[in-house]
Amino acid sequence: MIQKSKFKVFITREIPNAAIKLLKDKGYNVRVYSKDSPIPVKELYKNIKDADAVISLLNEKFDVAVFDKMEKCKIIANYAVGYNNIDIEYAKKKNIIITNTPDVLTDSTADLAMALVLACARKIIEAEKYVHAGKFKGWKPKLFLGIEIKDKMFGILGGGRIGTAVAIRAKAFGAKIIYLSRRKNQYLEDSTGAKKVSLDTLLKTSDFISIHLPLTDKTYHLLNKEKLSLMKKTSVLINTARGEIVDEKILIRILKQKKICCAGFDVFENEPNINPELLELGNVVALPHIGSATVEARTNMALLAAENIISVLSGKGAITPVL
Ligand code: GLV
Ligand code: GLV
Repeated sequence: MIQKSKFKVFITREIPNAAIKLLKDKGYNVRVYSKDSPIPVKELYKNIKDADAVISLLNEKFDVAVFDKMEKCKIIANYAVGYNNIDIEYAKKKNIIITNTPDVLTDSTADLAMALVLACARKIIEAEKYVHAGKFKGWKPKLFLGIEIKDKMFGILGGGRIGTAVAIRAKAFGAKIIYLSRRKNQYLEDSTGAKKVSLDTLLKTSDFISIHLPLTDKTYHLLNKEKLSLMKKTSVLINTARGEIVDEKILIRILKQKKICCAGFDVFENEPNINPELLELGNVVALPHIGSATVEARTNMALLAAENIISVLSGKGAITPVL
């Protein structure tokens, strides 16, 4: 008797178990690279060769060389909302569907952006270190004076799902909202009173600027020397999107010269190698790319990736294709 061959799914790192169970329950042959470090290229090539579906991470480059190693892959489900790590054009040529994980990580990422806003506005990290270093000797009138969010201008770069969720949070803190977006976002405007403005206006007038754009050829170094120099001396720049959207060398220079107040970054240009000069500055809060790092978001990201694979392999098409 001829046995029907099982679909093979390769997952490049351990993800929440619920998703692995979902795939196994379908009878798929699921392999997981289970070390807690980036998968070596050789190991990746060996495992994707005969895979029907792959779950990939945002820090793995899926370029022409990788695609050409795949003999029968139908879908790559990227375990992230951003998919700048994948050569989408080449995937299209190879008839491989690419999916991402929108929506399920929106609230987690927006919460983290607000955590960075508050950390910068109220000098939380500095103050916390001060207490731990045993320096707190009593209340002082001018100890760690920060700024309020209420009545400040809060500029959102990118009027998508995450940008909207951050705008709603900032509005609840009493900020006035402006945003940059290709398209008018009626929901964003109705729920926060936000106004859509040009990039230059946003940079010149915002007290807080939070980046929520995808990384593309158009947004690479969008905040370059000319644009960063438009920001107010008192302004706070938050990035939970992609490091490459900001020219980090220039950012370091303007932070050193105190041409802006401070920066709260969860993402960097050459992750995980952060420019040491950036970390030497006192006015930077740096986090290790943990925007979507909540139990809820990661579980739902994993389930969505698995559901996309099941849907595609059973001929029903992707649930959240990127194009
Ligand atoms: C995280 O950076 C993501 O794109 O999901
Ligand atoms: C972009 O995809 C977003 O979710 O904001």
